Amino acid sequence: MPSASSIVARSYPDKIIGVDNSLPWHLRTDLQLFKKRTQGHAVIMGRKTFESIGRPLPNRTNIILSRTEPLFLKSFPSLKWAQNPETALLLADIESIISGKMQFFVIGGDQIYKVFEPYINTIFVTDVFCGNINGDAKFELDFGDPLAGEKSEWIIKSEEEYPKTDSDEYPFRVTKYDRRKPFHRYRSKEEFMGRVPNFDVLLEQYEVRLKLEPIEEGQLDFFE
Ligand SMILES: NC(=O)c1ccc[n+]([C@@H]2O[C@H](COP(=O)([O-])OP(=O)(O)OC[C@H]3O[C@@H](n4cnc5c(N)ncnc54)[C@H](OP(=O)(O)O)[C@@H]3O)[C@@H](O)[C@H]2O)c1
Repeated sequence: MPSASSIVARSYPDKIIGVDNSLPWHLRTDLQLFKKRTQGHAVIMGRKTFESIGRPLPNRTNIILSRTEPLFLKSFPSLKWAQNPETALLLADIESIISGKMQFFVIGGDQIYKVFEPYINTIFVTDVFCGNINGDAKFELDFGDPLAGEKSEWIIKSEEEYPKTDSDEYPFRVTKYDRRKPFHRYRSKEEFMGRVPNFDVLLEQYEVRLKLEPIEEGQLDFFE
């Protein structure tokens, strides 16, 4: 199955990610990086995070987790509602395969990062150097400090520092972590074919897309 990644910005060192259902900072460059990374992919988010954004993220399949059907679905027909994490993963798998993507993104907030943490193989963390701030949402995953001899399930694949600018309120650092032993998810064909009510529609979309843009080498084929 496609691999699950997550992407988060948190305060350093307190690990705050939100206050009153919004972001505690404005970092234009980080938002641009987020956009570049997630464009064309499926994204999974919690109902509260969707409400804080207020509209579907363009050029992405937006999968919203909520235990009850959100009222805003009527206003945004492109949204996909998942009532539980399993359905969210299934929708993300199908959408990723249909569009030939090897990964999808879990984009928050606090509750949703925790729910999907066991499935995540790559995490992009933005550490925001904003000092101590108050907040009501956190991302507390600890990656360990290799310099202090701490063992970690995660390895740093890349790290980049960004300065404070006119459009970036604070300096920040973006680190890409990979899970040392990637978690591989499997699904049976029956599960795939049997559980999604609009599977035929998705298959039709896939066939149309295939005619328009044939599969390139390295992309996932639906029937692989
Ligand atoms: N800094 C960042 O990178 C970043 C990224 C994203 C969000 N945020 C911040 O994080 C905060 C929001 O986080 P949050 O934890 O309060 O909310 P959230 O994770 O966005 O959404 C929580 C909602 O998701 C649904 N949900 C949770 N677990 C579920 C499950 N197992 N099955 C079905 N539905 C489930 C529930 O919706 P229902 O109540 O409708 O059932 C729950 O109320 C905001 O401040 C936002 O700005 C920060």
